Amino acid sequence: MKIEFVGAASGSAVVAVFVQDERKLSKGAQAYDQQCGGALSRAIGAGRFTGAKGQTLLLTAPAGVSAPAIVAIGVGAKDGFDDLVLEHAAGQAYSAVKLLGFDTLAIEASDLSADQAARAAFAARLASYRFDKYLTKTPADKKPSITTIQVVAADAKAAEAAYAPLSAIADGVFFTRDLVAEPANVLYPEEFAKRCKGLEKLGLTVEVLGEAEMEKLGMRTLLAVGMGSTKQSQLVVMRWNGAADKNAQPIAFVGKGVCFDSGGLSLKPADAMEDMKWDMGGGGAVAGLMCALAGRKAKVNVVGVIGLVENMPDGNAQRPGDVVVTMSGQTVEVLNTDAEGRLVLADALWYTQDRFKPKFMVDLATLTGAMLIALGDEIAGVFSNSDELADNLLAASKATGEPLWRMPLPASYERMIDSPIADIKNTGKGRLGGSISAALFLQRFTNGVPWAHLDIAPVAWRKDSKVSTVPDGPAGFGVILLDRLVADRYEA
Ligand code: BES
Ligand code: MN
Ligand code: ZN
Repeated sequence: MKIEFVGAASGSAVVAVFVQDERKLSKGAQAYDQQCGGALSRAIGAGRFTGAKGQTLLLTAPAGVSAPAIVAIGVGAKDGFDDLVLEHAAGQAYSAVKLLGFDTLAIEASDLSADQAARAAFAARLASYRFDKYLTKTPADKKPSITTIQVVAADAKAAEAAYAPLSAIADGVFFTRDLVAEPANVLYPEEFAKRCKGLEKLGLTVEVLGEAEMEKLGMRTLLAVGMGSTKQSQLVVMRWNGAADKNAQPIAFVGKGVCFDSGGLSLKPADAMEDMKWDMGGGGAVAGLMCALAGRKAKVNVVGVIGLVENMPDGNAQRPGDVVVTMSGQTVEVLNTDAEGRLVLADALWYTQDRFKPKFMVDLATLTGAMLIALGDEIAGVFSNSDELADNLLAASKATGEPLWRMPLPASYERMIDSPIADIKNTGKGRLGGSISAALFLQRFTNGVPWAHLDIAPVAWRKDSKVSTVPDGPAGFGVILLDRLVADRYEA
């Protein structure tokens, strides 16, 4: 998608204008209304369109203007008009016109700030995401026709400058979405690692550890998950040293990268097993976040660690009842091979704190189906041993519109994961508090470092999205949220 900041829309562009409650036209919209002899205000005044949030109205071929169509987007009350309302409206403008057959959408933002104009471009771009590389027969009229998004800004230069970091963030989100959308026959651990390696062009350092190296480090638990797969397990370590002091203590993000989760010998039912191609959504978010941070040259030292495996049943697969030794030295009884994410993260978390001594670690994982039962499919859970880190995450969530809800880590539930034969077992107490017992499991591998765990099982993939900037499919959840956490709290 081509993004341009302009002083005036090109003549062939479909123009989007924002309208507030009570049919109040923006200044830019008023100018168009005058040029077309009041057709816009008549169209708006005639029906149910009032400017309420989420409403759209299409006015085609109005006389007096060269635009082939004008689309009015409701943004609601003036005092509620914040960045998120603006972003949703801009995304909606794109969705409303994408199939009309025109090649340019111009978003009229000339009475907004340069920053807001940049956000409009960011949002429209996020809304334009598509994963269509395997569609070979889509008829032309089913494909979006928009190839350029113009944002009409009072100070186009300033808007363009404000857009530069947002463009890097959108690149990161798209990087994550592409990883998450890719089927598991294409995206297995080595391919995932290869795509991370490709990010070195942004100035990231990317190391890839293979099975022999992980074996040497004692990462038996991560490796045990991959034993039933013909694919090699991998550990990706990405580093971005953007702080003035390159040796300053880093912050760390750790991702579950289960490229396919069949359940292993504790095989999942066939129903919806295909969803488990996106069981690397946490790892995908870490990769996209590193892409975003490097792309906008964030002034911070960051480490991203991704544990990559495929969980398959096979003669070599681990068995329910096996006891494995983690890198930390703690032993785990594997009661259910489908509770594999925590096994991968146990070693990835331990490795991260051991090697990098970070200020904090945030892990992202599509860890439990129970998270969907607890929170539904629009909110991710956050578990943390640090109130400060949890609060910072919740603040970033509020600012970016990626919803998080804090969940507890009660000490009295620790006994759910006590095993009679090993230090810990990988399942809890039946179906009770399944997301909590999983988080408590992870906590035992943090070595007391400030840590937060985001269970993104509910939000990694959207099925009936109501958010225009997150079309159905891979959401890229976490990239924008964690980029904001870094920008607001950890950049000098
Ligand atoms: N990857 C799944 C969790 C999941 C389920 C993510 C649905 C997204 C959508 C995870 O590895 C898993 O299988 N968890 C089990 C744990 C159980 C065996 C203790 C679960 O949630 O059922
Ligand atoms: Mn599983
Ligand atoms: Zn899984």
